[in-house]
Amino acid sequence: MRILGTGSALPSQTVTNDMLAGFLDTNDEWISTRTGIKTRHILSDETLVDLATRAAQNAIASAGITPEDLDFIICSNVANNYVTPALSTIIQGNIGSNCPCVDLNGACAGFIYALDIAESFLKTDRAKKILILCAEEPTKFCNWQERSTSILFGDGAGAVVLGAGDDLKAIRLTASSKKEVLYYQRKMEPTPFEHNNEMTMPLVMNGRDVFRMAVSSSCSDIDFVLKEANMQSDEIDFFLLHQANMRIIEAIRTHVHQPTKKFPSNIQRYGNTSSASIPILIDELSREGHLPEGSQLLLSAFGAGFVTGACILTWHTIQY
Ligand code: UT7
Repeated sequence: MRILGTGSALPSQTVTNDMLAGFLDTNDEWISTRTGIKTRHILSDETLVDLATRAAQNAIASAGITPEDLDFIICSNVANNYVTPALSTIIQGNIGSNCPCVDLNGACAGFIYALDIAESFLKTDRAKKILILCAEEPTKFCNWQERSTSILFGDGAGAVVLGAGDDLKAIRLTASSKKEVLYYQRKMEPTPFEHNNEMTMPLVMNGRDVFRMAVSSSCSDIDFVLKEANMQSDEIDFFLLHQANMRIIEAIRTHVHQPTKKFPSNIQRYGNTSSASIPILIDELSREGHLPEGSQLLLSAFGAGFVTGACILTWHTIQY
């Protein structure tokens, strides 16, 4: 694969830590020091479909292709208010494409899961151009009376267009069923035949367990892909990590013994946007000219499942 274009879109409404302290028992100092987050963008008047459409259009334009050129759309999304049809099919109509579409739920690691699937399609020549779109609204999973989860998340969409190339040097996906540390249950319609009326829950998270699992799984994924690519950590130019908590990023940085400047972040402004966090970061860095031609990028993410993904990519600059 090769990344040919990138795009992203954030809601217009910015929410500061002080705004949250207006209705939650929290404060800017706690949120900033424990997470690194100062603001997040939260959907108000727009919808996730609006954001996803904008991110997709930006990615397609920067790749210099038309929507008709796409052979496949993969949309990474944990949940949105359409249970069916798939979000990818709604965006397909908005951008004017006519290729097959599928949604996948790889939680916050969804972008890396999607990259691996796309690589198989490109390698076997089943597709020449693929849109990966990560569109997430995790702020709608939270209990907004609960300070330990609602302060963490923001909404957003990030997208890339992929074409053929040999830029993927190594990739690793993992999953291990550990539902209890992080889950969200949606209400389904009752039927006359159901006897077990299970209660649904807004997002439930054991923050300390997720923190520990995130650091240890990301470190082991990073070691794995470095070995697979026959590279040392100092040969990586940028570690683009899932933006969940600045302290998680710092713990991973310490593990690989690399300088802070190799760990660009935007969690300060956007919070945790789930699977959209890495493609939003890539889009920003690329548009601002921070990713030189030939840079080696290491991506790593983790999320509910517990799922993880990491990969190493060679970067080629994009003209916007
Ligand atoms: O994409 C994956 C999504 N999830 C994650 O990545 C989450 C990973 N985990 C984390 O980021 C951290 O565990 C949190 C930021 C969620 C919590 O930080 P922590 O350092 O693990 O704090 P804690 O849960 O151990 O809580 C410490 C204290 C507690 O008070 P006591 O028991 O010490 O009196 C909490 O009640 O902080 C309290 N607390 C808060 N105080 C002010 C929890 N949330 C807040 C808050 N404001 N928002």
